[in-house]
Amino acid sequence: MNEIRQETAEQTPAPEEIVYSRYICTANHGFAPYAQEELFRLFGAVKSTQLLPGEVFIATLQVEPAEVSRALLQNLPIFLRHIQPIQFQDEGDMPALQRLAEYLSQQSELEGKKVALHLRKSGDYFWQESAGELREWLQDQLQSLNAEFTVQDPDWVISVYADGEALYAGVSLPEDNLSSWNGGAIRFRKDDGQISRAKFKLMEAEKEFDIPFSSFRNAVDIGASPGGWTSFLLERGMKVTAVDPALMHESLRNAPGLKVLRKNAGEVKFKNNEFDLLVCDMSWSPKLMAKLVTGLLYSLAPGGTAIVTVKLMHKKPLAMIKEIVGMFEEERMQIQRAKQLVHNRDEITLYMIKY
Ligand SMILES: C[S@@+](CC[C@H](N)C(=O)[O-])C[C@H]1O[C@@H](n2cnc3c(N)ncnc32)[C@H](O)[C@@H]1O
Repeated sequence: MNEIRQETAEQTPAPEEIVYSRYICTANHGFAPYAQEELFRLFGAVKSTQLLPGEVFIATLQVEPAEVSRALLQNLPIFLRHIQPIQFQDEGDMPALQRLAEYLSQQSELEGKKVALHLRKSGDYFWQESAGELREWLQDQLQSLNAEFTVQDPDWVISVYADGEALYAGVSLPEDNLSSWNGGAIRFRKDDGQISRAKFKLMEAEKEFDIPFSSFRNAVDIGASPGGWTSFLLERGMKVTAVDPALMHESLRNAPGLKVLRKNAGEVKFKNNEFDLLVCDMSWSPKLMAKLVTGLLYSLAPGGTAIVTVKLMHKKPLAMIKEIVGMFEEERMQIQRAKQLVHNRDEITLYMIKY
């Protein structure tokens, strides 16, 4: 009996030895369960506490923060859009911000560095001070470290999240947040004369995946109407062949560099290796889309890029995405990224290169 007890005691680490890391995790609205599934597949048990239904949750992982960063960077998630560490939390009569201030005063790594502040909230409660006052407070803290307060390209990010009765704060490298935008949400302003909001998807893909659109010369846009993506590609200096039975927007009539084929994509014929970029944003069943697009890949030159949106019509999106990815991989497409962008609704974006 004693022996058994001893064995159990050796196998179960004392509570103080168990390493936990806690994060505020964000996914597109309704997709938090899949982000949780991704964490579970990478780290095993995940304890989750919901902050904003279907969108933001706290995940407690039994893994060290460095291991979390390493594993996530090696297996970039599709649905988990953003994470921020929780290092400081209101506890007893010691508020999170006081803990954060104490921590910052001891951080020589931040000296002379550029630091961004990302503030977010859910629920009604906000910190007592306004967001502006909080920024000023933080600037004061940073001044003593000679650190520079910045919005763009920070070396470090200080994240503060207010929810209901609690305030959470953490300090991280931008790459450890999975995205350098606050909450992983890049926002664009709609331009006058912008043809469709769909254009934002390609603008986001350009930033998120670092795609050098200006280096492509000849693109095909499948499912192009009304023409948001086509207009983006033309703006980046490409010749564009737009394929769609539906009408393109009138502003694209006679646009230089644009050829419109008012046809079903199953009926078009191209030359081998005619394009160096293929994009497809068809609202269609994912398998039919993949069949149709893979049938046109002969027209994409080796080394060419493909960007396609994949509708999530299935109850098991992770399994469905795996199947679609497999269909493209069989056709010499190397997946660079699969990600649900902020501007993707019930879909994800695949970024691939042909080899
Ligand atoms: C979401 S819209 C595309 C929006 C476009 N990316 C933009 O930025 O304006 C989807 C388009 O796919 C087209 N489509 C659906 N099935 C198609 C097919 N088999 N061949 C060509 N186009 C198709 C539809 O006509 C529709 O115009």
